[in-house]
Amino acid sequence: QATSISADRVPDMGKRKLMNLLLLGTISLPSAGMLIPYTYFFVPPAGSGGGSGTFAKDALGNDIVAAEWLKIHGPGDRTLTQGLKGDPTYLVVEADRSLATYGINAVCTHLGCVVPWNSAENKFICPCHGSQYNYQGKVVRGPAPLSLALAHADIDEGKVVYVPWVETDFRTGEDPWWA
Ligand code: FES
Repeated sequence: QATSISADRVPDMGKRKLMNLLLLGTISLPSAGMLIPYTYFFVPPAGSGGGSGTFAKDALGNDIVAAEWLKIHGPGDRTLTQGLKGDPTYLVVEADRSLATYGINAVCTHLGCVVPWNSAENKFICPCHGSQYNYQGKVVRGPAPLSLALAHADIDEGKVVYVPWVETDFRTGEDPWWA
C-alpha cells in the first residue's frame, strides 16, 4: 500500500513543482529582464590583459578577436562591449573597416544612463534626458556636461584590449576628465 501512496504522490509533487517553477518564471521574468543589461555590464572583468589593460568582452562574455569581429561588424558600426571596470564601451569600426584605436564609454555623463547609438542620426542620444554626443562621443547637447569617456582599444595577439586613456582628449584638446 505504501508503494501505491507514493506512486500517487509522485505525479502530484511533480505537478506542484512544475507549477511553482512556472509561477516563479512568470514573476521573475520582468525583473530579470530589466536586470540583464546592468548585471551583464557590471560583472567585474574576469580576464585582464595584464597590467592596466582589460580584454574587451562581447555580449556572451567572450574575448573579442578583432578579425572575427570585423567579419560581422561593418563600417561605422558601434557595438557595446564590456570595457574597463566592466563599463559598457562601444567598439568602433572605422569607414575603412578597421577597428578604431579608441573605445567610447557608454555611460552618460549626466546621470549615468547607458547611451544608445543612433546610426540614422549619426549620434549617441541619451534616452533619459536627451543629451546628445557626436559619432566620437563628444557632447553636442546637454544636459550632459562632458563628453563620453575614452579608452584605448589596442590589439593584443589578435584580441581587443582596452587600456585606460590618460592622454589629451583628441576630441576637445583637453585633459581627460575621467583619468
Ligand atoms: Fe543621459 Fe541624463 S542621464 S541625459
